[in-house]
Amino acid sequence: MFSGQLVRIRGLEKSDLDNIMQWINNPDITRFLLAFTVPMSRAMEEKWLEKSMYHTASDKFFVIETLEGDYLGGCGIHGIDATHRHAEIGIAIGKESHLGKGYGEDSIKILLRLGFHALNLNKIYLRVFADNLRAIRCYEKCGFKEVGRQKQHRYVAGEWQDEVMMEVLRSEWEKNH
Ligand SMILES: CC(C)(COP(=O)(O)OP(=O)(O)OC[C@H]1O[C@@H](n2cnc3c(N)ncnc32)[C@H](O)[C@@H]1OP(=O)(O)O)[C@@H](O)C(=O)NCCC(=O)NCCS
Repeated sequence: MFSGQLVRIRGLEKSDLDNIMQWINNPDITRFLLAFTVPMSRAMEEKWLEKSMYHTASDKFFVIETLEGDYLGGCGIHGIDATHRHAEIGIAIGKESHLGKGYGEDSIKILLRLGFHALNLNKIYLRVFADNLRAIRCYEKCGFKEVGRQKQHRYVAGEWQDEVMMEVLRSEWEKNH
């Protein structure tokens, strides 16, 4: 359940800190992420890691690694709503050399399997900046559909960004599985 064709996902370990620090301040990666607007210190990341290593009812963070065990980045399922059975996913492949090679698609397909089959969710959604065409294409490949756009919703690196909302229902996903 946790492995795909190219990657597997696993829980965070304290030893992941060095790998995280390799990309967490790379603006070519983080400019696409919702939560990163200013540089992050090692101490801040360490604190985040210590908290995020432990899953909660609403938030689960994972590491993405190749099937050979090389660290690639992180992903997670957040805002899990047990009543309405929906949640949001997030993802970042931190190794630039590995972008655009199908690792994201493979990771998200694992997250969808986890979300629908392990967590019994009914809907999984995400938010993405409108200019992040690589991510949008990746999400479409995984079955996500755009359901709306919020104009000038984020201010990123000196520019307003529209935010695209995308989602996939379990019934739609099951048609292909
Ligand atoms: C978003 C992300 C997870 C996608 O993973 P990935 O492994 O790079 O994506 P994939 O290779 O699975 O798919 C990318 C698709 O976009 C296409 N693509 C790449 N650049 C593109 C562009 N500028 N415009 C349109 N499509 C593009 C690729 O050709 C591929 O489509 P294809 O398989 O039909 O050829 C990854 O790029 C990433 O982590 N980026 C940095 C952080 C980020 O953007 N996170 C998401 C925030 S919402």
